[in-house]
Amino acid sequence: MSSMSNSQVKGNNPILEKQQTFVSDLIAKMTLEEKIGQMSQQSSSEGSLPEHLKEAIRSGLTGSIINQVNLEIINEMQRIAVEESRLKIPLLMGRDVIHGFKTIFPIPLGQASSWSEELVSSAARISALEASSCGINWTFAPMMDIGRDPRWGRIAETLGEDPYLCAVLAASMIKGFQGEQLATPGNIAACAKHFVGYGASESGRDYASVNIPENELRNVHLTPFKVAVEAGVATVMASFSDINGVPASGNEWLMKQVLRKEIGFNDLLVSDFDAIRQLTVHGFTANDKEAAYQSSNAGIDMEMASTTYKEHLKDLIDEGKIKLCEIDRMVSRIIKLKVKLGLFEDPYTNPTSFPSLVNQSNLLAAKELALQSCVLLKNYDEALPLNKSKLNSIAVIGPLANDGYEQLGTWVFDGEEKHSVTCLQAIKEFVGDTVKINYCKTLENTRSNNQDQFTQAIETAASSDCVLMFLGEESILSGEAHCRSNIDLPGSQQQLIHAIAETGKKIILVVMAGRPLTLGNILLKVDALLYAWHPGTMGGPAITDLLFGVKSPSGKLPVSFPRNVGQIPLYYSQKNGGRPASEETFVSIDAIKSRAKQTSFGMTSTHLDTHFSPQFHFGFGLSYNQFSYKNIRLDRDEIKLGEVLIITAELINLGKYDCEEVAQLYIRDLVGNVTRPVKELKGFQRVSLPAGTCKKISFKLSSNDLAFYDRNMTFRAESGEFYVWIGGSSETKLKARFKIL
Ligand code: NOJ
Repeated sequence: MSSMSNSQVKGNNPILEKQQTFVSDLIAKMTLEEKIGQMSQQSSSEGSLPEHLKEAIRSGLTGSIINQVNLEIINEMQRIAVEESRLKIPLLMGRDVIHGFKTIFPIPLGQASSWSEELVSSAARISALEASSCGINWTFAPMMDIGRDPRWGRIAETLGEDPYLCAVLAASMIKGFQGEQLATPGNIAACAKHFVGYGASESGRDYASVNIPENELRNVHLTPFKVAVEAGVATVMASFSDINGVPASGNEWLMKQVLRKEIGFNDLLVSDFDAIRQLTVHGFTANDKEAAYQSSNAGIDMEMASTTYKEHLKDLIDEGKIKLCEIDRMVSRIIKLKVKLGLFEDPYTNPTSFPSLVNQSNLLAAKELALQSCVLLKNYDEALPLNKSKLNSIAVIGPLANDGYEQLGTWVFDGEEKHSVTCLQAIKEFVGDTVKINYCKTLENTRSNNQDQFTQAIETAASSDCVLMFLGEESILSGEAHCRSNIDLPGSQQQLIHAIAETGKKIILVVMAGRPLTLGNILLKVDALLYAWHPGTMGGPAITDLLFGVKSPSGKLPVSFPRNVGQIPLYYSQKNGGRPASEETFVSIDAIKSRAKQTSFGMTSTHLDTHFSPQFHFGFGLSYNQFSYKNIRLDRDEIKLGEVLIITAELINLGKYDCEEVAQLYIRDLVGNVTRPVKELKGFQRVSLPAGTCKKISFKLSSNDLAFYDRNMTFRAESGEFYVWIGGSSETKLKARFKIL
């Protein structure tokens, strides 16, 4: 039977029709066991191919393998599949290639700080080529969960807090992984994950419950998935989470109604690792059999790692609980992907037909992305860039200055420390013999509380012309299941900064971390702060170029930095509320008089013990230049529904460096059928601007870009008034007004 979607048949596309016939014919030949085998993904231990796995492949009882990267073993598995199994169906080979395979790029949150579709896409392209050369044909990326809680370890893996930025960059990654045609060697299937809302785990604790009102779910969390499906993402992964009481892996409404019907995703939907079995742990099903029922009924085509499908689908079909035609539809999506990947023509990988791993051009791309990912958050009195001709000595202090492993970040399975160039190495190389580098690691790792080497660090700082400190979080402090309740610099790092500050030397702090940290305690102690996230293999050379002014920083924050954990969730696109916070009404706890009247101040939406603003705003990032935005203009003040508006402004580089700036476009819908955020990003562009020049920048905004889900969950743009801003961060004040009639 045919299970391909009707829309594909209607188009009368002969290639698709041929593919469809091939898939249908193959399914017609399959036994039920073979079909269920295709729906089962098996985990494989790296470097070994045990007999039971060979037998499973030979008998057609597995459709996909996860976590094997040994090419010889992969080719052997494919050989068994296509030579020894009855129907000769090749295997999908899955691997988490999250921010690089061997050449490691900045963590996704760092990549998002580049706001560069081009670089993000080319990083995915390189990752796909490297992974393909080792036999991988499917990655579980990009992750497009909205990250609004820096306690959550997986914020490192997100593209930030904003649905628009996340959607645009995720689509770039998908293009990079998948290329034009999946069948072209070097292209791999991407996976949009985790559908949906995983980022809203309660208190930033991984795997915790998620409760998101439907309107917010649609207006915020669905957006990147809609765009990913439009961009042709080959697969989607269901989230681990219990969402509003129904875990995603068994959530029929979410998968069938929202993902399949409304968003129109007709391809392979995979569960997360062991997530189907965990439906019982959630207390959603009583046992594995019910779990297999709920999940297959929700339309999850492939089970990752657990074996409830293998063990129970046959009985569920025999009992008439699941229809065979449903199973055929699910299997056809899996086979269709294998067809698209060209695996039936050639399932083998010949590494010599690929560029070598970690080659020079890959390293250059990794350096460029790291350069554009670093965000300069403070630069008091032009502490940066450093001028090597004016320095005799530099103190390099901290546990992350010379650690090629820790700079790689979370989700690095295949990247190797040996390829990393650290900051210490790169700085030494850059300054040569002209400047003496005095290095003191001081703390064994970022969590260490052993202050034995503080005296040596202070002496090192005191005897040098300036101090570079490399602090932050080791890779293991972020990522899956690595959440923190306190997001200050861990261990004794704050104390170290305070101690070094006593020397009175100029301190440049470079932070490498997998999340926004709360930095309030040390901001006043340092002259400059460069936030490098985990910058990857080429972090050292990139950071060195920025510190010494070979390039000017151009990264912008894809996420707001809270002042303290109590402010979380804190994001720029909050709703106004009925009593919004303002400078005029804000009263700090210290200013409250004794026995003050209970309504004597405030009465707006603030905390008493911290300012209502973030430490650093979404979109913020300094450069070595000053930029000025002026003269915002609209081509007209009113548009009809369906029309496009052009908004322009002048961007002036007031400094002495040739620089890049990320110009951002925000809007506010003043009155809505449901309340609308105080600001929403609707466009951005990286502009390169020679010193002293001015450029006219221009954005197009269609009324469709202003559509949102209303209180009846209808997606539509409304007539009414809007503000529009252009500027260098979400704090921009350069504003105009227009109407949709
Ligand atoms: C669990 C993670 O949630 C998911 O993102 C990942 O792709 C799978 N494990 C496979 O490793």
